[in-house]
Amino acid sequence: MQGGQIFDTVKFLAKFHKPIVLRHTGKIMKAIVRSEYGSPDVLRLEDVALPAPKSNEVLIKVHATTVNRTDCANLWGKPWIMKIILGFPKPRQPIPGTDFAGVIEKVGSDVTLFAVGDKVWGFNDVGLQSHAEYIAMPENNGITTIPHNFSFEEAASCAEGAHYAYNFINKVHLQAGQKVLVNGASGAIGSALVQMVKYCGLHVTAVCPTKAIDAVRSLGADKIIDYTVEDFTKDAERYDYVFDAVGKSTFAACKPLLLPKGIYISSELGPKVQNPFLALITPLFGGKKVIFPVPSNIPASLSFIKGLMEQAAFKPLIDRRYALEGIGEAYNYVVSGQKTGNVVITMP
Ligand SMILES: NC(=O)c1ccc[n+]([C@@H]2O[C@H](COP(=O)([O-])OP(=O)(O)OC[C@H]3O[C@@H](n4cnc5c(N)ncnc54)[C@H](OP(=O)(O)O)[C@@H]3O)[C@@H](O)[C@H]2O)c1
Repeated sequence: MQGGQIFDTVKFLAKFHKPIVLRHTGKIMKAIVRSEYGSPDVLRLEDVALPAPKSNEVLIKVHATTVNRTDCANLWGKPWIMKIILGFPKPRQPIPGTDFAGVIEKVGSDVTLFAVGDKVWGFNDVGLQSHAEYIAMPENNGITTIPHNFSFEEAASCAEGAHYAYNFINKVHLQAGQKVLVNGASGAIGSALVQMVKYCGLHVTAVCPTKAIDAVRSLGADKIIDYTVEDFTKDAERYDYVFDAVGKSTFAACKPLLLPKGIYISSELGPKVQNPFLALITPLFGGKKVIFPVPSNIPASLSFIKGLMEQAAFKPLIDRRYALEGIGEAYNYVVSGQKTGNVVITMP
């Protein structure tokens, strides 16, 4: 979880997270609950109190959520810095879950942006407690309406990976006609990245496993390299950008692929934490360089992604669907690193 380490370090430095405190209505809902960090064995499906929205909050009936790599870091409390953000020695938030799509059931007295009945989706990397039938959250922090042509499952799958993908492309000045190679194009981040760079008019080479070739081609990739049969670093083409969305390469290995002013971005820290270090020193030499994709500003990400959704320029890849009762199995599949795009939890 090297990329998780840098993401979470940055999250910690950027904001000191206050836990969501559930205020009760006296009514009951189903939720996944845990009282300690650990494997999915610590998860239980329980009846808990339905949250009551504060004056600036909305109450949302969750129709779909996902299990993503951020949820895995939050569940296991790994790397260790997660525990500083989420609570030590136990998680402050008993209910996991970082994204959702659903319908607003109630609004607080000061809410102006949303109304009862609005279909909404959203994300918060430090936790929304959305592996539950209902959540209450502030109206102005990582929530927006669902474009009409998207289902709840699709909307929930447009959040986590796409947020991190947007934080690759908002660090550079993409120009139509440039060439980009996306490694890990079948992942949640990679599949979103392919669509975003395609939208910006670039020529995209996508690296993925055999099983995901058709799905990745459907996202608009111009050329596919199957990583199980070919080493993409031996590709003869030269690129303006190499984006490693799955963090399995190094700058040194990808450098020959880059044009003289080419840029390398990885979602991981790299061996011996080299990527943030290289991001500091490589710009000093004026040639090929490394940028580190520090993720920030979730509302800006959602706004960009929603714009693409409305223009039919973005559709999330959905791999498996699970019921809330099967969430442990979903976590085990996601942490295996083998999902194609997103894993959805469909609510009762
Ligand atoms: N902790 C955090 O806060 C956090 C949050 C988000 C992301 N991240 C990190 O960001 C990375 C990407 O996340 P993600 O959700 O997009 O990943 P993901 O969805 O789990 O990506 C899995 C996909 O990548 C493919 N893949 C595996 N090894 C590959 C390789 N060497 N070359 C090309 N493709 C390969 C897998 O194929 P196979 O089935 O063949 O293995 C699978 O299709 C992860 O390393 C994750 O830890 C961390």
